[in-house]
Amino acid sequence: MPKIIVAIDGYSSCGKSTTAKLVAGQLNYPYIDTGAMYRAVTLYFLQNHISLTNPREIENALDNIHISFRRHPELGRNDTYLNGLNVEDEIRKMYVSERVSDVSAVAAVRHALVAQQQRMGKAKGIVMDGRDIGTVVFPQAELKIFMNADPLIRAQRRQLELLQKGEMVGFQEIVDNLKNRDYIDTHRAESPLRQASDAVYIDNSLMTLDEQVELVVRLADEQI
Ligand code: C5P
Repeated sequence: MPKIIVAIDGYSSCGKSTTAKLVAGQLNYPYIDTGAMYRAVTLYFLQNHISLTNPREIENALDNIHISFRRHPELGRNDTYLNGLNVEDEIRKMYVSERVSDVSAVAAVRHALVAQQQRMGKAKGIVMDGRDIGTVVFPQAELKIFMNADPLIRAQRRQLELLQKGEMVGFQEIVDNLKNRDYIDTHRAESPLRQASDAVYIDNSLMTLDEQVELVVRLADEQI
């Protein structure tokens, strides 16, 4: 059976990752959360006080960063590792969310991560989600999805997700963080978030998770 690339892009907390993970499971493809990769770089930059205005410091830091994913079937999780350490919980915290869009706007960071993402998808048979997957990482992807949801619904989902991880964050703080990230992600010079002309637009504000997964799997099956 031919293998395809499923590229899922969209705004922060619109349910991309949850949908992408389940779609990957149904297609029996690996799933790559590229947001986690930008978050891991951000964590490293914060821990090592890397200045975003010092290109040499950034290049050196990027040389020392190794990001990988490991599946933990017993936990039903696909965890992110930074230089061999499991950082899955840490990278989801609010202090990382507050800095990640600035770090992601740095061209050298994007070049390094896009190259790694392209290597990961070289053999196809992959589901990848992010902001620039259908436009920059895999412009030739067989299926491109652009997901969106009402901003307040996105903030509610994000708040619930943080609560489930034990982090209590005020609703307004979450709304402001999402707005700020959306703004930076759509206005940056280097590969800004935008819908690819051949992407299927899905507004999932009123859809259940099952409905979203079913729709994307059906669209994928049409391409296989
Ligand atoms: O997907 P998630 O919300 O975890 O992504 C965190 C941030 O990483 C985004 O707000 C964006 O700034 C950045 N990102 C990106 N390009 C991607 C994936 C994420 O710039 N492909």
